[in-house]
Amino acid sequence: MPKISIKGQEMPESPIRKLVPFAEAAVKKGRKIYQLNIGQPDIKTPQAALDAVRNHNIEVLSYSHSAGFDTYREKLSGYYQKTALPVEKEDIIITTGGSEALLFAMGSITDPGDEVIIPEPFYANYNGFATASGVKIRPIQASIEDGFALPPISEFEKLITEKTKAILICNPGNPTGYLYTREEVKQLADLALKHDLFIVSDEVYREFAYEGAQHHSIMSIPELSENAIMIDSVSKRYSMCGARIGCLVSKNKEVIATAMKFAQARLSPPTFAQIASEAALDTPQEYFDEVIEQYTYRRNLLVDGLEKIEGVRVAKPKGAFYCIAELPIEDADDFARWLLESFEDNNETVMVAPAAGFYSTPNTGKNQVRIAYVLKKENLERSINILDKALKEYKSLN
Ligand SMILES: Cc1ncc(COP(=O)(O)O)c(C=O)c1O
Repeated sequence: MPKISIKGQEMPESPIRKLVPFAEAAVKKGRKIYQLNIGQPDIKTPQAALDAVRNHNIEVLSYSHSAGFDTYREKLSGYYQKTALPVEKEDIIITTGGSEALLFAMGSITDPGDEVIIPEPFYANYNGFATASGVKIRPIQASIEDGFALPPISEFEKLITEKTKAILICNPGNPTGYLYTREEVKQLADLALKHDLFIVSDEVYREFAYEGAQHHSIMSIPELSENAIMIDSVSKRYSMCGARIGCLVSKNKEVIATAMKFAQARLSPPTFAQIASEAALDTPQEYFDEVIEQYTYRRNLLVDGLEKIEGVRVAKPKGAFYCIAELPIEDADDFARWLLESFEDNNETVMVAPAAGFYSTPNTGKNQVRIAYVLKKENLERSINILDKALKEYKSLN
């Protein structure tokens, strides 16, 4: 049989999806599962986006421009300018989700063997994108004790070699929920300028900042115009994960010209989804106010509930809709699987994402899970209750 590539063999499985076969088996047994493991919001997509697709009478579903619709890029630049970011249409390439933007970014700024520094825990698919690009991730551990704040800049300095091409951050963070302060973003910017590095800032949760906290975009620092690449997406902002629309943003003309070659190779982003995404830009502020209120409520409910369970420690998220919880167990992989295979309370159980897959340092985060608070109040309350009971039962067995 012809051989699979080494790269293919090294491609990591998604830690979020690898439990799916166990969940499917549990569902077959008639079990109800509360999914705390995946960031699929239950929030309704804005009506304007759905109507725009419904009311369109396209006769030929053609390719669009490789950079995306001109009208959409123009309107999207207006969205960024409203938050005082100096983004012009020419600085934007529309992509098939933030995922493709991350791939284009890695492809444009790294060669095989290059290194990218990322504070961990980080969005697990960064591992996959790095493997696909032949890039080595150099992780820096952030800690639950200080809510996963930016590790000291001196720690970054220690890892910088001639192979280092970029620092990748996720702001607000998945899985940590941490929102970088102005000072932290500034410190990273100074570091990037000092060592002539790119900063790739994944801001797909940029709208989700709680208690009036302000999000500080990498694009807000004028000195970084040649170094900054922002990744964005409609997936979470408008609860449009299935649209598969995101974008890569940079003031660096060479980055845009290079990413455009990747964009041309895949021809164009999806047409109907761009129509929906362009219309979504008209979503009124009240939509976001309600969504933020809803997530703030859920976050408080979850964190308060988790903190009441003996032995559980949680870093209160300031943004996005995830948190990392440390559990009184040794192996979250085993616990998460046991929850699906062997535990039930009234024929119900919960699904969580073991956090080890969000670290690239081996044997780290083994007693942690990532929880997404994307369920409505009753379901979230019930999930906490199930988790509490499950932890007690699991402890008595081990
Ligand atoms: C931090 C982060 N970046 C990027 C993505 C990719 O999102 P999409 O490809 O749906 O835009 C996700 C999805 O969950 C994410 O959490």
